[in-house]
Amino acid sequence: MDQYVIKGGKPLVGEVVIGGAKNAALGILAGAVMADEPVLIENLPDVCDVNVLLDAISGIGAIVDRIDRHTVKINGRTIKSVYVDYEYIKKIRGSYYLLGALLGKYKEAKVALPGGCNIGSRPIDQHKKGFEALGAKVKIEQGGIISAKADCLKGNHIYLDVVSVGATINIMLASCLAEETTIIENAAKEPHIVDVANFLNSMGANIKGAGTDVIRVKGVGKLHGSTYSIIPDQIEAGTFMLAAAATKGDVLVKNVIPKHLDAISAKLVEIGCEVEEFDDSVRVVANKRLGHTNVKTLPYPGFPTDMQPQITALLALSDGTSVITESIFENRFKYVAELARMGADIKVEGNMAVINGVDNLMGAAISAPDLRAGAALVLAGLVAEGYTILDQVTYIERGYELFEEKLTALGASIKKIDINDERELQKFKLQVS
Ligand code: EPZ
Repeated sequence: MDQYVIKGGKPLVGEVVIGGAKNAALGILAGAVMADEPVLIENLPDVCDVNVLLDAISGIGAIVDRIDRHTVKINGRTIKSVYVDYEYIKKIRGSYYLLGALLGKYKEAKVALPGGCNIGSRPIDQHKKGFEALGAKVKIEQGGIISAKADCLKGNHIYLDVVSVGATINIMLASCLAEETTIIENAAKEPHIVDVANFLNSMGANIKGAGTDVIRVKGVGKLHGSTYSIIPDQIEAGTFMLAAAATKGDVLVKNVIPKHLDAISAKLVEIGCEVEEFDDSVRVVANKRLGHTNVKTLPYPGFPTDMQPQITALLALSDGTSVITESIFENRFKYVAELARMGADIKVEGNMAVINGVDNLMGAAISAPDLRAGAALVLAGLVAEGYTILDQVTYIERGYELFEEKLTALGASIKKIDINDERELQKFKLQVS
């Protein structure tokens, strides 16, 4: 089992290149199986969740040809099964997009209830409601398997009760080969919704309105092959922006869409960072102690829930009192106990965290409870005095490609070390001391 060992105290300085968006990739890979022709996907992030989904796709019989680390060719012509094995699905949440994709293409799909980060109850009632509105019978079978089956899928008017990224993508997938037009109201507007819609349109789908809260999907007879490049990852970019700010560094975050980062940039400016936007990069400079602010997580274009742990880690060291309100997932403050072990002063009550900024954090042995919380604890380790040893780094590898290498290139002292490799640990400590 691997751990990150971090020696804190160095400002991050330099340039970092952001990879493709993980959460767009998951929807796009599932959508790729809907054609019976080759679909070439570029700018694919090489992260665990994506690789697990590729295994699941090849497990149902599609041809998956990894051209290089960031490019894959998928052909759904050879799919033999509409049953996605529990082995795959239990590891990641994004596999549930195969339910929408296979239901859309074959009018039948069976997928085990999704896993993913434990950040709340994560119901799928809106996905079910959407599939049923299209004419499918959806059942939860023994062993937590969801099955969806229809004689034919027919467009309908669907009003989502909650703004859900997953349900919006799943309904777009299922409806693009349905008869007539589907209207999704109260749809999510995240950049990856737009990316999945653009991708499906490149395969011949007819989806309009993605990026607004009303999406119209006019069903087409079939989807064809395509070549498509995934957008940059908003959350990876935001994480590096906050890492630059927390360490009082100067980082140019390259290969981003600055518009997608507006909510993050605005908070950084508010607490005293300089943020400079270019065409496809942003530079974050922090050269003084940062101030406090209040943050409420909201669906896009609000402040992303996937950046909530990272901004909490940043504000733990800022001057004054900040309040974080988590309005998307009810169980996303588990990492606060780990930050407290490093000396942070944070009180959680329900969905709110009140942070009293402290002057410094101290390195500690801590554990990542989920993906984004893991990234936040790395940020804390980068600014803490002394050594931080972070367990459960596999969570971080679900969504960040070469995280420690990218941080090292910016000047951080961080290394991934096997938990039992005492010699490596001593070697690292000697190198950085
Ligand atoms: C996606 O999860 C992302 N995952 C999450 O990223 C992200 O945190 C989340 O969207 C919000 O942006 C993937 O894209 C694979 P939702 P998803 O459906 O689709 C409620 C990361 O770190 N809801 O938008 O599961 C739900 O409980 C991960 O990369 C229902 O009530 O999120 C939540 O309160 C973690 N019924 C809210 O909606 C439903 O049927 C938003 O969830 C569906 C959702």
